[in-house]
This record gives sequence, C-alpha cells and structure tokens, in this order.
Amino acid sequence: MLNLLLIPLGAAALLTAALATTDDETAVDVSKRHERPPHDVQLIIHEGTRLLAADADDGHDEEDDYAPALFARLSAEFPNRFTEDDEGIFRDAWPETRDGAIVWDDENECYWEVVTADRLTRGRQDYVQFCASCHALEGDGFGRSGVALRPPPRDFSQGLFKFTKVNSEKLPDDAALLALVKGGLLGTPMNEWDISDERLAEIITYVKSLSLPGDEDADGSTGWRDPYNQIAGVIDASDDPWTDDPGGAIEQGEGLYHKYQCYTCHPAYADAARTDALRGVEGSGTYPDDHTYPKLRKDSSYTVLDYNVAILPPDFTWHDMRRGNTVAEIYQTIAGGVAGAGMPTWKGAAPDEELWAIAYYVYDLAETYKGNDAQRAAFMRSIR
Ligand code: HEC
Ligand code: HEC
Repeated sequence: MLNLLLIPLGAAALLTAALATTDDETAVDVSKRHERPPHDVQLIIHEGTRLLAADADDGHDEEDDYAPALFARLSAEFPNRFTEDDEGIFRDAWPETRDGAIVWDDENECYWEVVTADRLTRGRQDYVQFCASCHALEGDGFGRSGVALRPPPRDFSQGLFKFTKVNSEKLPDDAALLALVKGGLLGTPMNEWDISDERLAEIITYVKSLSLPGDEDADGSTGWRDPYNQIAGVIDASDDPWTDDPGGAIEQGEGLYHKYQCYTCHPAYADAARTDALRGVEGSGTYPDDHTYPKLRKDSSYTVLDYNVAILPPDFTWHDMRRGNTVAEIYQTIAGGVAGAGMPTWKGAAPDEELWAIAYYVYDLAETYKGNDAQRAAFMRSIR
C-alpha cells in the first residue's frame, strides 16, 4: 500500500491545528523564510483536468518547422484513431474520459488533452518525491531546499521556460520538456534526472497542470490552460549550412554577434574600436564600462513569491552552457531565445545561415578560452 502521509499522524494533528488560522496568518511572510507554515501535504488529486494540446496544423505549415505533428504521430501509433472532418478538424475516437484523449473545443478553436485524476495523482506523487524539495509542493519555486539557490528553481505557475530550445513565444511540447528534465541545466542546481520516460511524462503533465488558468484577455496566463497559446517542438538542427567552412562561419559569426548587439546583455568580445568596426559604424566610441562583461538583468519576468529574479547572461569564455556545448545545441538555444529574459527568439528574425554562424562563433569562444585561464586572461586584457 502507498504510504500517503508524509508526516506522522501526531504531527498531522498539530498541523491541522496550525492551519486552522485566518488566511492572513497562514499567508507566507517572506521576511520570515524559516517560519513558513508547514503544508497539509495532499498526495491524491480527485479531479482530472484539460491541458492545451498541440494544434493539428503544427508541422504541416512549411513556414513553421518547429512543431512536431502530434496528430501524425498519434495516428501512426494508433491507426484509425483520428478522422478528419470537412473543416479539417481531427476527431478522436477515444472517449473523452480516457487519459490522453484529444478533444476539439468549438468555442475556443483549440484542442485539449484529457488528463485523468489518476494520472495527475501519479505525477504529483513523483513530483513530491523528486522535485518539490526545490520547486515547492505548490510549484512556486520556493521549496525548502530551493530557498537559497541561485538561480532559484522555476515557479511553474508562470509557464515560462528558458532553455527548452523551442521558439520562446510558444509553449514547449512534452518531448521538449522531457529532454530538458533528463538533461538538466549544467551549471545550475537543476540536475539531470534518470527517471523512466513514462513516469517523467506523468511528472511533466502534473507540472503543466500548475500553470495558471486564463485566456488572452486575462493578464498573465502563459501556460497550458490558455486556449490562445501555441505549442511547439524543439527547433530542428539538422541543416548546418557551414559544415564545409567552419572558419568562415566563425568569422562571420563574430561580426553578426556584435552587429546584433548581443553584448547589450552578454559581453562584447572586442574593444570599443573593434566593436565599431565589426558593427560597421564609425567611431561611436561610447560603450559602457562593463562593455566586455555580462550585465545582470534585473528586469526578467521570472519571479519567486513575487521577488523578481535577477539573471546573469553567460560569458561564453567562462560559464557553462546550460543545454549543451555542440554548435547544433548552441544554434537551437539562440534560435529559440530565452523566454522572459529579454533574449528574443531569433528564428525567423535573422536568416538561418547567420544564426548558425553566430553559434559557430559562440562555440569557438568557449572552445578556445573556457578552462584555458592564461589564454583567456591574455584575451581579456587585450580587449579591456
Ligand atoms: C536541487 C534543486 C532542484 C530539484 C530537485 C529540481 N529542480 Fe528543476 N530547477 C532547479 C533550478 C535551480 C532551476 C532554474 C535553473 C535556471 O534558471 O537556470 C530549475 C528549472 C527547472 C525547469 C525550467 C527549465 C527552463 O528551461 O526554464 C524545469 C522544467 C524543471 N526545473 C523541472 C524539474 C523537475 C520535473 C524536477 C523533478 C524531477 C526538478 N526540476 C527538480 C532546481 C531543481
Ligand atoms: C536582453 C538580453 C539578452 C540579449 C540581447 C541576448 N541574450 Fe543571450 N541570454 C540572455 C539571458 C538572460 C540568458 C540566460 C541566462 C541564464 O538564465 O542562465 C541568455 C542565454 C544565452 C545562451 C545560452 C547558453 C546556454 O546556457 O545554453 C546563448 C548561447 C546566448 N544567450 C546567445 C546570445 C546571442 C548569440 C545573442 C545575440 C544574437 C544574445 N544571446 C542576445 C540575455 C540576452
């Protein structure tokens, strides 16, 4: 039998007493972090929910090569499951009470995925076991072990993600989230997780269910309960145009990196005169003192308990790359952008060939200087 209580019964009785106070008293007082009230840990979820599912158009639109074709995949897995009606709407033969059924919503013109209470319960139980210590039982990023972590754990009610390698204007699909959690975020307390795909998928469903309800009129919903959001998959990185000329890519990438002013957040890797030359402007000469340093961003959209999370953009000659060091992985991160941190999705904003060139350049910076202290110091001296 499952052990459903995390706390001994005696403590539970005390807890119930402690919780029988007014709302004001139980509200978290952030100035008293260590006195956060204990939780009435509930591991069973009694009601199922519906979460936004990928659109049937995804993957069929040639302009949009991020999204996997959910319906193509499901149809291949389960032949005869879907039929397409005259208006191009897919109808799922699975009953609406069945886990994983995809339901068309006429009013909002979107598909919802049916999630049963059983699935949410399984996801929550594993979440409490593996993730809640940092991300908190409620998913607000203020777990007991997460309190002092920098960067702080993600608040899942925001539905905002940095490193899914998905166009940052869209929500990551399950495969993108699965890959992220399995791989972890190097250089942060978010480790890689070796949990079976099946259980991880349930944890992810639960995490998605923590995003706030709302629609485009209601402020702030960025998650899976807003019918106006869109879901996309990991950016395709199979078409590296520079395989025959990596040297050319690095050279062009250096110019583009400075031309697109990535140094407004990341370091510039050139002194003022050379930055001007790379940008093709003449003698502007007015760069801030921290031109060649990363600039702490205090204006990100990430919050934990209403505290704004400051984010340090990486210096590629110094910091770990969160989601992989290969040119292709760096390309995906740049193309996707970092949602909520002012780093826009570059896919579509600049030609793909340029984004690849920038990725080569960033890769080369890390490859040449990261861990080579003497060489890095000499390079920094030459530009500072
Ligand atoms: C030891 C603390 C810790 C644990 C345990 C932990 N995380 Fe995290 N997690 C973090 C931190 C810290 C971040 C934020 C990293 C950053 O902002 O760069 C994070 C970020 C994330 C993100 C957001 C990634 C993005 O691109 O924005 C997801 C999703 C996530 N964690 C899922 C999980 C899941 C699922 C589990 C349990 C299987 C888990 N985490 C367990 C600390 C933890
Ligand atoms: C408005 C600020 C801003 C601008 C402009 C910006 N970035 Fe970023 N970038 C960030 C932030 C913030 C992060 C995430 C830092 C974190 O949370 O770890 C980031 C992360 C990255 C990463 C992630 C590396 C990893 O950890 O995997 C790469 C690569 C990157 N940026 C490249 C670029 C390039 C190339 C440009 C210009 C085309 C650019 N950025 C422009 C703010 C910015």
